Amino acid sequence: MVKAVVLGASGGIGQPLSLLLKASPLIDELALYDVVNTPGVTADLSHISSVAKISGYLPKEDGLKNALTGADIVVIPAGIPRKPGMTRDDLFKINAGIVRDLAKGIAEFSPKAFTLVISNPVNSTVPIAAEVFKAAGVFDPKRLFGVTTLDVVRAETFTQEYSGQKDPSKATVPVIGGHSGETIVPLFSKVSPSFDIPADKYEALVKRVQFGGDEVVAAKDGAGSATLSMAYAGFRFSEAVIRASKGEKGVVEPTFVYLPGVPGGDAIAQATGVDFFSTPVELGPSGVEKAINVLDGVTEREQKLLAACVEGLKGNIEKGVEFVKNPP
Ligand code: NAI
Repeated sequence: MVKAVVLGASGGIGQPLSLLLKASPLIDELALYDVVNTPGVTADLSHISSVAKISGYLPKEDGLKNALTGADIVVIPAGIPRKPGMTRDDLFKINAGIVRDLAKGIAEFSPKAFTLVISNPVNSTVPIAAEVFKAAGVFDPKRLFGVTTLDVVRAETFTQEYSGQKDPSKATVPVIGGHSGETIVPLFSKVSPSFDIPADKYEALVKRVQFGGDEVVAAKDGAGSATLSMAYAGFRFSEAVIRASKGEKGVVEPTFVYLPGVPGGDAIAQATGVDFFSTPVELGPSGVEKAINVLDGVTEREQKLLAACVEGLKGNIEKGVEFVKNPP
């Protein structure tokens, strides 16, 4: 039996993500939580003739507790999205507090659940969740994930003309580092099956993977950031975590994890100098089974991208840790 919970279920990402989870045969129970509109979203989705039993909660009457109790996997898309001209870091002020409070709820009511953080800035909100879990004495780094799958999905899509795949998701394009601008590092030298990016297209393609989110923010013109593609990506990652938890072998996805706490993570932490980093991980019944080091043999250009990434990541991680240790 798998119980999935969405925190922020009424939002632009929350609604289509909840729809995909409701439709998934892998999920037996689905609980939706938000500060607004969950009764409506829940009633609507409840008419879908799929396996998952659905329930919805607002903060009143112990809503968070009731949503989280018995959870196996908790996905968090709660928080405000970007508007034109904003970076993901600009969201910190509001979203940091939202993620901290929801993480406190998870620590209390479902400390063993897999926690998947979508709320931006992921580079800081995942360290925030980690610090909250540490303070509560329930931190299991193998079970805490920053969802960076949209960067991978974009990289697969944007390289399709070079990978030649009819189904672009059949190309494996590792995207590592963090989840904002220059901290996003696509490793085109490590794609499989292998293909070449023409030299004159390389730079633009890297920039498009790093800043692809801005295309959506601009096109939505004030109405938010990526929601539908993010719901797809969040669902793909949630499914991967659930499939592996049920015993499927060979499930690998990049995700933003606390390196010193996961098998194989120390070598990557030493090579990069950061404790939180997105890298392909092999998933298993207890979460991260192994962090896979894809840093060996990267090209000179990729090394430069990684240097810029680490520079930015350090400050983002520190900001998240500080927010919990020394609250403003
Ligand atoms: P939205 O504003 O449409 O939805 C957010 C939802 O969170 C709203 O329904 C709101 O009521 C709810 N919420 C606010 N405070 C809450 C709380 N304390 N508890 C529970 N729910 C709460 O925003 P959207 O577009 O769905 O984006 C959500 C987040 O996801 C943003 O931070 C955005 O930047 C991030 N995002 C992350 C991506 C990634 O790749 N990881 C990609 C795209 C967006």
